[in-house]
Amino acid sequence: MSKKLFIQTLGCQMNDTDSQHIQAELEKHKGYIKTDKLEDADLIIINTCSVREKPVQKLFSEIGQFNKKKKNGAKIGVCGCTASHLGQDIIKRAPYVDFVLGARNISKIKDVVDIKGSVEVAITNDDSQYEFATATSNQYRTSVNISVGCDKECTYCIVPSTRGEEISIPPEMIVSQIQKAVDQGAVEVMLLGQNVNSYGRRFSDKRGKYSFTKLLQDISKIDGLKRIRFTSPHPLHMDDEFIEEFAKNEKISKCIHMPLQSGSTTILKAMRRGYTKEWFLNRATKLRNLVPNLRITTDIIVAFPGETHEDFLDTLDVVNQVKFDQIFNFKYSARPGTKALEFKDKEIDDEIGSLRLTQLIELHKRYLEDSMPSMIGQTLNVLVESLKPNGEVTGYTDNYYQVFAKGSDELLGKFVDIKITSATRTSLKGEVIA
Ligand code: SAH
Ligand code: SF4
Ligand code: F3S
Repeated sequence: MSKKLFIQTLGCQMNDTDSQHIQAELEKHKGYIKTDKLEDADLIIINTCSVREKPVQKLFSEIGQFNKKKKNGAKIGVCGCTASHLGQDIIKRAPYVDFVLGARNISKIKDVVDIKGSVEVAITNDDSQYEFATATSNQYRTSVNISVGCDKECTYCIVPSTRGEEISIPPEMIVSQIQKAVDQGAVEVMLLGQNVNSYGRRFSDKRGKYSFTKLLQDISKIDGLKRIRFTSPHPLHMDDEFIEEFAKNEKISKCIHMPLQSGSTTILKAMRRGYTKEWFLNRATKLRNLVPNLRITTDIIVAFPGETHEDFLDTLDVVNQVKFDQIFNFKYSARPGTKALEFKDKEIDDEIGSLRLTQLIELHKRYLEDSMPSMIGQTLNVLVESLKPNGEVTGYTDNYYQVFAKGSDELLGKFVDIKITSATRTSLKGEVIA
């Protein structure tokens, strides 16, 4: 009988892909199959995130629970960014943990899984040319890493110390991985990296430079691939060449993530983001001018050390001007080993931080309540990707509105026209047009 794997994933989309790789590697080399029931598992893995403090605090109580609930003899592994940053200490604090595998060491899963007490967390490890077993999650969509690590030094961010320096994955490996997924029915790809548009500056085989724009052109030549998405691009590297390719390449989804972090040039400087408020607005305006129906999503951190009321108003000003379609809001969280710890004396009172967060969320709620209903009456083309038990199908438009409609499994994997009849803040509902 095959062994069973339970895997819980926290954090970003790169962690999701890493979990898919872990699962695929363990299936191929060790005969594990996935289970959703922790109690049935022979191996329990938690793929962790370190980006903010709270989930890290919760980690030990969570694995304590795993240890209580697991069946006799089942193993526990801690993987991902918190594994990278705490390493051996995890086993010291929780001796029942069988192995620790860092975010930069995923290719070593098959080596550590059977060695009690093994710890692989070196951030100098280079997985960039490792051919992972093929992973599948969504039938129509595949996620592919285009680089590992991050070379930026945003002062609040722990990621460079958990994922190491940035190395690009060779374009031909990326293309062949997407081709494989397309051969199995995928029509959409999500390209992943901490900083996708600095792609091609360093490869581990020392080949010459490449660019993200060129990579996008290579990928769009794949027959059968209909939609290309990517995250996260860095606003600093959104040069004209990139924006023009984004605008004219029909396969590129017209929804872009532009992580603002702050609208204040002073705070952006303290964060070492490398751009100003004006640069961000200039890039957003250029994109909007070239791309009708563009949707823009963003990440914002409030209450970074030293953020004054005026700085916060600058953030609200950018939110009002750019009209983001989705905002991932965070309250600043001090992280070990980051440069921002030096600004400890300027840390913002937690209550003020919470107040700013609420204000930002409310402002954005009001915007969505005003803007989403304007979609009613329009007919949108939707790639249908799943059928819910209540008989509704759901999928996404090219600019990534999520749309629901009554339908059947015949629509799965097809692009269908849906006339919008109602809207919430986050999704649309309509009727399929025969
Ligand atoms: N490479 C991506 C971000 C990865 S982390 C990028 O640059 O866009 C995802 C988000 O978490 C960041 O965009 C940031 O908004 C948030 N974040 C990172 N460190 C944080 C911290 N110390 N406190 C609060 N939010 C943080
Ligand atoms: Fe962190 Fe900045 Fe790198 Fe994003 S670009 S992972 S925020 S250091
Ligand atoms: Fe992702 Fe969290 Fe690591 S956001 S890169 S899993 S710290």
